[in-house]
Amino acid sequence: MASDVGNRAPLKINFDRDHVIEATPRDTVASAMLRAGHVACTRSPKYRRVRGPYCLLGDCGTCQLRIDGHPNIRACTTIVRDGMEVASQNTFGPPGVDPTGLIDHVFSDGIDHHHMMVKPRILNQLMQVTARSLTGFGTLPDVTIEATPTHRQLRPDVLVIGAGTSGRLIAHALEARGINVHTYDRRDRLALEVWSQQPLPKHLELEMGVIGAYPSEGNGGRVVAASSPCGEDQRLHSIYPRHIVLALGSRQPTMLLPRNDLPGVVAARGLLHMLQRTGKKLAAPVVVITRDPAGERLATRLQEHVSQPLKVIAHTDVRELVGSDRVRAVVTATGRFDCEFVALAPTPAPAHELAVMAGAAVAFDGRGFAPLTDDTGRCQTTSPVPWDLWASGSLRGVADDHSDQARQLVEAITADIGAAGAT
Ligand code: FES
Repeated sequence: MASDVGNRAPLKINFDRDHVIEATPRDTVASAMLRAGHVACTRSPKYRRVRGPYCLLGDCGTCQLRIDGHPNIRACTTIVRDGMEVASQNTFGPPGVDPTGLIDHVFSDGIDHHHMMVKPRILNQLMQVTARSLTGFGTLPDVTIEATPTHRQLRPDVLVIGAGTSGRLIAHALEARGINVHTYDRRDRLALEVWSQQPLPKHLELEMGVIGAYPSEGNGGRVVAASSPCGEDQRLHSIYPRHIVLALGSRQPTMLLPRNDLPGVVAARGLLHMLQRTGKKLAAPVVVITRDPAGERLATRLQEHVSQPLKVIAHTDVRELVGSDRVRAVVTATGRFDCEFVALAPTPAPAHELAVMAGAAVAFDGRGFAPLTDDTGRCQTTSPVPWDLWASGSLRGVADDHSDQARQLVEAITADIGAAGAT
């Protein structure tokens, strides 16, 4: 069933107590804040550098905020609810009077901790003590957790992690063969509908904030999935699958550029997805920095959702990004281009971390670390694991049409289950 979130009343969230931000039911906390001009929303865990959302798809962690009393919640994957209390982390007071803001001005060229205050020794020791006392992220929850999450144990033939293009293709094909498949994704229904028109799998668990795979736990290994503490229904699932299909996709890493961590520097793919989701055009000036033709195509798609003409610049032409509390301009050999957002379009890298956790062997493939597989997608593993592990889609480097690869993988899993007997 399609989401009906577009027609509900406007919502309000409170940011750092003093700021009321209007939102729509299609917003995440991050999209509402960015649209309201709160680009710098928190500070980094080590040197208190000012931070804003980067990936906008739940991958990087730079958008973590305290939401309804829960620390370290990713604002870019948290759906807005009316009256939410949102607070920045690692700050010492409201914006404007927070003394940590001095850092942005004193170290406007960035903090190089390999060389800063290395000598004299006493100054270095002082700096280290100060940095360590500041280190950490957020503080403990200030809410009592009254309801324990619903705990379920599942033993599917196949667990599919990721309901993007290839995950959906595979889950559907396996379901059509009568195989017991459960699919998990950290995104919400609207995010998946925006991502692709393909129908969603039957047994689908959404908004899972944490998914971990523990091959050495107990006798048969366990996958644990938990919903975000800010979600409407609290779930904790222990899953004991025979096969795991990793359809984890890829992510846009940052680009090596001076001051690439300034608030307002975002991933182009995440920005596109956010604008498609909210249905609202971005009125601010945007510079897109590309590396390859795929990045240029992304810029073309992004233009449909931005009111002003985009300035597209090749990565190799950029000298620096300019700004202290947020990005203000991009400087190249031929001039300075003022902007409020810089959208980076690097080559996507495989989202391999959960694959490694589940036991997959990975190797650098030029884009990042990808699972080593045979032609069907069966993963090599670093040691014996209690499940059969498969990788699909852009995690394996398949960019667009995933159908052939998905078909081979489905045939191979079906043959395995047929040989062993379906549950
Ligand atoms: S995790 Fe939210 S911006 Fe990256």
